[in-house]
Amino acid sequence: MSKIAVIPGDGTGPEVTREGVKVLTAASKKFSFPLAFTTFDWGGERYLKTGETLPADAVKTLKGFDAIYLGAIGHPDVKPGILEQGILLRLRFELDQYINLRPVRLYPNVETPLANKKPEDIDFVIVRENVEGLYTGGGGFLKKGTADEVAIQEMIYTRKGVERCIRFAFELARKRNRRKKLTMSGKTNVLTYVQDLWYRTFMEVAREYPDVTPDYAHIDATTMWMVKNPEWFDVIVTENMFGDIITDLGAMIQGGMGVAAGGNLNPQGVSMFEPIGGSAPKYTGQNVINPVASILAGAMLLDQIGQPKAAEAVEKSVMAVIAKMKSMAAGKMGYSTSQIGDMVAAGL
Ligand code: IPM
Ligand code: MN
Repeated sequence: MSKIAVIPGDGTGPEVTREGVKVLTAASKKFSFPLAFTTFDWGGERYLKTGETLPADAVKTLKGFDAIYLGAIGHPDVKPGILEQGILLRLRFELDQYINLRPVRLYPNVETPLANKKPEDIDFVIVRENVEGLYTGGGGFLKKGTADEVAIQEMIYTRKGVERCIRFAFELARKRNRRKKLTMSGKTNVLTYVQDLWYRTFMEVAREYPDVTPDYAHIDATTMWMVKNPEWFDVIVTENMFGDIITDLGAMIQGGMGVAAGGNLNPQGVSMFEPIGGSAPKYTGQNVINPVASILAGAMLLDQIGQPKAAEAVEKSVMAVIAKMKSMAAGKMGYSTSQIGDMVAAGL
């Protein structure tokens, strides 16, 4: 029995998560493995009522699950930063989900803003370091609010943290077995300490993977190539903040937030899967938001809990449904949110 913690969250989170759970349930029946879902009401609404982002024992509770399925966190009435820090980042950090895995794949019949690019041109994976760098919150103010104010934000990396991320990316490039190319995306020409650590570690670990070609591109150049020649990429590994930025670019070239899914992985612990997009408050409760990203996050979850066949079947079923959809944009899909979930579940 795999135990899944469901955190539907805010805005359209509950609507897309509902469809995801529908599809996961159908997959568990079809492939005969039991799933038990437990739902938690954590998010902006609860924070506004109770003043608490997460209960004190939240992390301990989640450690008793096999995986976490997250909708979206973000509420228009809550000051930016509170829910992000108090829920999303806290879970990533305290569960040590050190990999943020974001596949960038253009499915047939999905429109990309890149002219003349086809599904075979856009099919790579971004491995983003997820618990170090600028996100550690190191730094502070001096003389805050005065004319002499100093603000410092520290990009902190450890050899251990960098190495485990890079190693994961090499393993993935090997396992994907496509072009077997791993591109480190960095900024060695400016960030001469942190990126020196990254690059040295990258080249050292590369020696253990003679079957994978190590490649390097500066982060700014990476954004150029992602737009001009996305077909050059197989797996990209990058530090946390760079990864945050290029995965949004990746989401756009694969057809937008309606299709982009990701996983926050602790390969030795509890991982959390989520659509990359936010809570989209203006579409809340209208049954018009695209649940495909959430359903694909569910497929990643299935893979992680040891059900790769079910994961593949869900992805195939999603592709068949996408082939019938008019658009990936909310309200323009040609179907409602729940209809898409029904179709993917039935397609299994
Ligand atoms: C993401 C988000 C988060 C991040 C925010 C909400 C803190 O943008 O998952 O990419 O920066 O990691
Ligand atoms: Mn982001």
